Amino acid sequence: MDRFRVWAICVTLVAAPVAAWPAAKGDAEKGKEVFQQCGVCHNADSEDKKMGPGLKGLFKKDKLSNGKKPTEPNIRTKIDEGGNGMPAYKDMLGDSEKDDLIAYLKTL
Ligand code: HEC
Repeated sequence: MDRFRVWAICVTLVAAPVAAWPAAKGDAEKGKEVFQQCGVCHNADSEDKKMGPGLKGLFKKDKLSNGKKPTEPNIRTKIDEGGNGMPAYKDMLGDSEKDDLIAYLKTL
């Protein structure tokens, strides 16, 4: 094998998982747009309460206000079902919009 082929194989191995990543997960940029409708009630840039709790550092919290851990399934359930003043988004947002939204929430 010449050096170019070795190089080409290395690049392919490194690049493949990176290229697959955005397809599997949501797009945080799009999620930011989806979040505009949440921003009425939630701060994205602080933990201060608006209508609902500020969502900065959401995934790094010890627990959510319902006592559950801030894992992706628990946060998805909260968005789907709402409760305590939080609207239910189960039928209001599509699956990919929710993926985008979660990706965005992880950046906060
Ligand atoms: C009408 C106001 C309102 C809107 C709009 C709203 N929420 Fe909420 N949200 C709340 C309230 C109030 C709570 C607190 C509920 C509770 O204590 O159980 C909450 C709780 C949450 C929580 C749990 C936070 C925690 O620390 O426990 C998450 C996550 C969340 N909202 C995400 C969203 C997202 C994402 C959207 C947009 C799709 C959204 N919310 C739109 C009012 C709102």
